[in-house]
Amino acid sequence: MAREKWQSKLGFMLAAMGSAVGLGNIWRFSYVAGENGGGAFLLLYLAFVLLIGIPVLLSEFSIGRQAQSDVVGSYQKLAPKKPWFIQGYMGLICSFLILGFYSVVAGWSLYYFWNYLNTSFFNAPSGGYEAAFGTFITNPVSPLFWHGLFMVITILVVLTGVKDGIERASKIFMPTLAVLLIMLAAYSVTLEGALEGLKFLFQPNWSILEDPSVYLAALGQAFFSLSLGMGGMMTYGSYLSKDESLPSATVGIGLMDTFFAIIAGVVIFPAVFAFNISPESGPNLVFITLPGVFEQMPFGGIVGLVFFFLLCLAALSSSISILEVPVAYFMRKFGWSRTLSSAVLGSLMYLLGVAASLGMGRWSDVTLIGDRDIMGSMEFVASDVFLPLGGLIIALFVGWHWSKAEAFEATDMASAGPIRHIWRFLVKFVAPVCIAIIFLSSVGIL
Ligand code: PHE
Repeated sequence: MAREKWQSKLGFMLAAMGSAVGLGNIWRFSYVAGENGGGAFLLLYLAFVLLIGIPVLLSEFSIGRQAQSDVVGSYQKLAPKKPWFIQGYMGLICSFLILGFYSVVAGWSLYYFWNYLNTSFFNAPSGGYEAAFGTFITNPVSPLFWHGLFMVITILVVLTGVKDGIERASKIFMPTLAVLLIMLAAYSVTLEGALEGLKFLFQPNWSILEDPSVYLAALGQAFFSLSLGMGGMMTYGSYLSKDESLPSATVGIGLMDTFFAIIAGVVIFPAVFAFNISPESGPNLVFITLPGVFEQMPFGGIVGLVFFFLLCLAALSSSISILEVPVAYFMRKFGWSRTLSSAVLGSLMYLLGVAASLGMGRWSDVTLIGDRDIMGSMEFVASDVFLPLGGLIIALFVGWHWSKAEAFEATDMASAGPIRHIWRFLVKFVAPVCIAIIFLSSVGIL
């Protein structure tokens, strides 16, 4: 059977942007920035996106497109009998870890959407939103239902194949989400006490930079937000034909993704300070902050409804790119149908998510890595370890395994002028060295 392909370059762009923009920009960016002190973290994150993220993203796309295969197959095709394919297996493991917790948080978003749909969140529930959210996530059953519902939708989209569904949906919903976020940001900065929030986000507190874990957090967040280092973008690149040009698409995706994160920060941090919520509240930050904003603003109930609808769609266009990674591999390797692969693999990821979800309540005293709960541990291993490590291998492959001419050809940089040398320098030296230093210093070796 012939491999599937995008219908157009726009289709590819939308799908890749859909993958990048998701809960990572809104939910994860704000809580990780909050935990890591705000301003200085933001600068690090931006530097990593520009110097490492975007150049390595171009590399990841180009490996997939050159090989026209899945995460493991691509390396085996381009470098037979060499160990590069290990990155492919790491990507497969990583896809399970990421979708495991991602679908849980997406389930929370669905639950919020439902509460706006039936108007029960139009006004604060007795005890406030924070308490209501706490009651919800510690319940052993209800979050599992919403998480399951989200997973079923993800599976259904993935089993219809790459060309349909999301490719069309993102065309309308992504711009709408951007406009809505800008409007919310404009409202949020008028809240009383908003200035504190803006200062927190934009005024660097340099002393934070003495802590090596902040670098790892910013690096992990840059990778997570760009969907980079797992092989999702490689798989998406593999459905692109060789006559489309990659560099402009890559830069567009990187900038768009960063824009969404910053605007989300401008929505959330003023509200965090206006409502006296601690920026270090962790993964529940947006879920306890945003409803308060919606409650205060005119027509806020409707705005909340639209917001959570769009957030769920943004999460969906990311989750399908995660499930697509093992699905593409199982289809090629074991000859499974798309339907069977999506259903089986998606269900396994759901089960992994059940542990993450129960870790919020019944199993909340289980800590796996350091003092991290189950979800926190999955997030840490996947985003702060596997993704940057995957990115390191991708950078080494394109920078060192490929010759200069091969690398320029595969990335459509051959006629790109001097910038191509800068790109290659970043991929060959800057990205690997920075990632290595950050890893070593975070485990205390440097
Ligand atoms: N980038 C996605 C988001 O921001 C999440 C994701 C991570 C998707 C890794 C694919 C791979 O929500």
